[in-house]
Amino acid sequence: SFDVKIASSGQTITIPAGKRVTEVLEEHGIKVPTSCSQGVCGTCLTGVLEGTPDHRDNYLTPEEQEEGKLFLPCCSRAKTPFLALDL
Ligand code: FES
Repeated sequence: SFDVKIASSGQTITIPAGKRVTEVLEEHGIKVPTSCSQGVCGTCLTGVLEGTPDHRDNYLTPEEQEEGKLFLPCCSRAKTPFLALDL
């Protein structure tokens, strides 16, 4: 598992193994728009303010993945114990 922090509210939410970030956020009333939920369409694109994403998508360029400022929370996870999201 890893934690995500919602920048606008300061709320910290734990993402368990086997659950999508978008799924867990929605359970907490934070709706990130999704379409494909497979890391292809880019609909759920979210800014990353702190931490390192573990990219599982096929949308970002290798350069964007390396930069780590954006991620696709319908499928991607975290390499660090904590990600701060621009939500
Ligand atoms: Fe399509 Fe996340 S919903 S990339």
